[in-house]
Amino acid sequence: AAWEKQVRHSSTPRRPNGLSVLVTGAAGFVGSHCSLALKKRGDGVLGLDNFNTYYDPSLKRARQKLLLKHQVFIVEGDLNDAPLLAKLFDVMPFTHILHLAAQAGVRYAMQNPQSYVSSNIAGFVNLLEVAKAANPQPAIVWASSSSVYGLNTEVPFSENHRTDQPASLYAATKKAGEEIAHTYNHIYGISLTGLRFFTVYGPWGRPDMAYFFFTKDILQGKPIDIYQAQDEKQVARDFTYIDDVVKGCIGALDTAEKSTGSGGKKKVGKLVSILESLLNIKAKKHVIKMPRNGDVPYTHANVSLAYRDFGYKPTTDLSTGLRKFVKWYASYYGIQTKVKKGKEVNSEHNED
Ligand code: NAD
Ligand code: UGA
Repeated sequence: AAWEKQVRHSSTPRRPNGLSVLVTGAAGFVGSHCSLALKKRGDGVLGLDNFNTYYDPSLKRARQKLLLKHQVFIVEGDLNDAPLLAKLFDVMPFTHILHLAAQAGVRYAMQNPQSYVSSNIAGFVNLLEVAKAANPQPAIVWASSSSVYGLNTEVPFSENHRTDQPASLYAATKKAGEEIAHTYNHIYGISLTGLRFFTVYGPWGRPDMAYFFFTKDILQGKPIDIYQAQDEKQVARDFTYIDDVVKGCIGALDTAEKSTGSGGKKKVGKLVSILESLLNIKAKKHVIKMPRNGDVPYTHANVSLAYRDFGYKPTTDLSTGLRKFVKWYASYYGIQTKVKKGKEVNSEHNED
């Protein structure tokens, strides 16, 4: 009964016509930010997360602590636990699901393929089955990935670009998720909006991602590896700052009926040079003239459809976003560093 009370308290909106949202993956990077933003707006939020150990779970616990301070409760459980999910819907008639729980990361799929199938395919279907049976039926917004564009290099990517050449099992499971979402919408009329996030970065980020461990390694004076694409050009990513992704998710929830990048592409070397300048340390760079297995060469989003449909307009450039990340990193890990002050490097333009 105490558990049910917490579930109800956490997910009851505090503003008139507020949403009641089940956020899966709420202890994760994007999930924790979205949960907080929704709660601050007066929506009801309940989190679900299995706190897996893909990366340092103490970071997930720290995010959970932060959420609890704002009265967001996270139920510890797995997407594949159908009785638990059904119980959550019995206690609370959620109007929306923001589905962010997944096995993320591109490289890890070569070590642990089953975890991708289990969370990104089986777990997603399990969640959809529960949503299908719920009354009212919640609208679902969920995270796909820019990786579905795979080996396609015809950037910028739009929703109608081909997605039939996944370069990793991760990408293949996200692509499968898109087909599964289509099916559940087609047969049962469930409102499903998939957002293709493009390399998201920022405070409270994921330690398995390049910008995070580049910062760590540069600070420790360790060498970093910079991979190149097949054509010897540097790999490029459309790095998207977390606050822009949060705005995109909330916009999609509000309109609940599309690709989310920042609308620019930056070479990975640019990421490193901004970090070097912010940290005031020269990185020990090791350039590898070979693509990483599973990596896609380029990502770059055309965000015009997301703008038309729910006003998605990213505003944080890479220098500003990385400055915020580095400040958070130094304070979270108690590292003495003087993040360089000064004018932002204008990084709005694309590099071709
Ligand atoms: P994250 O790993 O920080 O968050 C995912 C959370 O889901 C984790 O806390 C994990 O414990 C939880 N989880 C995983 N499997 C689960 C399961 N079976 N049951 C319950 N909980 C489970 O990742 P993130 O960066 O916050 O990514 C959020 C979503 O966005 C994911 O779907 C990811 O694939 C997608 N995405 C992220 C990026 C990015 O750059 N961060 C880019 C594209 C897509
Ligand atoms: C990221 C996330 O990890 C995925 O979960 C997500 O789905 C994906 O974005 C996406 O946009 O869909 P990725 O862009 O590969 O994947 O992120 P990182 O692993 O942080 O790599 C960023 C870039 O740095 C890549 O170009 C990669 O090749 C490069 N890199 C990575 C290096 O040059 N050296 C390294 O040691 C690691």
